Amino acid sequence: MVDGKEGIKIDGFEEIFLNKIHNLDCKIGFKKIPDNSVDLLLTDPPYGISRTLNCDGQRLGTTAKLSFDFGKWDEFNHEWFEEALKKVRGWAITFCAKKDIGNLWNILEKNGFIAIDVLVWQKPDPVPLNGKSKFLNAWEAAVMGKRGGAHWGGYCTHNIIKYQAPKGKTRIHPTQKPLGLIKDLIELTTKEGDLVLDPFMGSGTTALACKQLSRNFVGFEINKEYCQMAEERLNQTEKPHTISLTQ
Ligand SMILES: C[S@@+](CC[C@H](N)C(=O)[O-])C[C@H]1O[C@@H](n2cnc3c(N)ncnc32)[C@H](O)[C@@H]1O
Repeated sequence: MVDGKEGIKIDGFEEIFLNKIHNLDCKIGFKKIPDNSVDLLLTDPPYGISRTLNCDGQRLGTTAKLSFDFGKWDEFNHEWFEEALKKVRGWAITFCAKKDIGNLWNILEKNGFIAIDVLVWQKPDPVPLNGKSKFLNAWEAAVMGKRGGAHWGGYCTHNIIKYQAPKGKTRIHPTQKPLGLIKDLIELTTKEGDLVLDPFMGSGTTALACKQLSRNFVGFEINKEYCQMAEERLNQTEKPHTISLTQ
């Protein structure tokens, strides 16, 4: 590792710096990361947003409403997932639309991972939309898989985790995940000093969780505004970031 003007350069990574959210399309970012170098892929790509119930109408804390139009993202193929998996030597966890669970499970198995589970994030206070005609959406799914021998820090841990979705001033992104949920997943699947990759950082929840838990991260976020907000959120935590990478 070399500590330069732009940040800490990691051996074998091209123009990618440790513990930084890069304002970059992840498909370009993946090409700069060596294969089998990441202990945990933990991410939350855009999903479930191209239907009539999109995020544009939702209120955000004190921040002005942000446009969140990803057009065809829900129809996207999962090429990004296959590319990301090549980088992983430990766990891979991705939140996803319910209809994509089977596809992502198959991609894990096709790429040499052991597909382990579908984690449920239970939302105690779901958005009361269309409550007269269908269930409220009180859970989100995350598909989980691992390479053989990957670390597991849990013991008799349930695969349903309950957290309130971020609200009010703490919510700066329309699909922000609860910090506690992301911290639980990082603690279960990594050790201190491990490297976490999140190619769809949004408000930087994964980055903040890593900083608080002494894990390292590499992040990508294509939207400049979110990227800046995420960096600011990260800088508000004074805890110094760990830099000793596990081998
Ligand atoms: C569902 S949000 C992630 C929210 C995040 N988990 C959080 O807690 O704030 C997905 C993010 O991916 C970003 N994104 C979309 N396409 C991308 C791409 N090709 N490369 C990098 N980021 C992308 C979007 O701008 C959006 O902020």
